[in-house]
Amino acid sequence: MKLLLVFSSESGNTKKVTEMLQLELEKLYYTITVKNALTVKAVNLEEADLILIGTPVHGYILFGHKPVEAITDMVKNALPVDLKQKPVIGFATYLFFPAGALKRIKNSIERRNGSYVASFANRRFKKQVLVTNIVDYITKNYPIE
Ligand SMILES: Cc1cc2nc3c(=O)[nH]c(=O)nc-3n(C[C@H](O)[C@H](O)[C@H](O)COP(=O)(O)O)c2cc1C
Repeated sequence: MKLLLVFSSESGNTKKVTEMLQLELEKLYYTITVKNALTVKAVNLEEADLILIGTPVHGYILFGHKPVEAITDMVKNALPVDLKQKPVIGFATYLFFPAGALKRIKNSIERRNGSYVASFANRRFKKQVLVTNIVDYITKNYPIE
């Protein structure tokens, strides 16, 4: 089972969660590729069996809560036009409230015929809880055969 972890991170929290996920999932024998949203290519997304997209939550009073720009650009520009129902999980770190940030990723994935299967978000100082929840979900729903 090949997993692609795509993340963006400005102050390191989402990057740290991505690294923790990589460590835990590799221990469980998943094959992991990690890419920054700025450099991920369509071919990386095509090769994966399961894609995880990680973002910090950025809020703007007038425009609602969003993933960071690098993630918004990535889902617009790097995603293959047809994801052929490939499963995608979104995760976010935030300080106060994640609101609809992951909903935007979900909508972009579904517009490209991807299968958005789950969202996970936790406050930035609860990284281990976030990682454990995601790893539990993956081992239950995408077990290594
Ligand atoms: C410009 C900016 C806007 C933010 N807006 C929100 C927000 O609306 N709600 C929230 O809960 N956290 C908000 N945060 C906090 C970040 O989501 C949080 O610190 C996150 O863990 C940062 O991830 P990173 O270290 O990977 O960049 C904001 C941070 C920045 C820098």
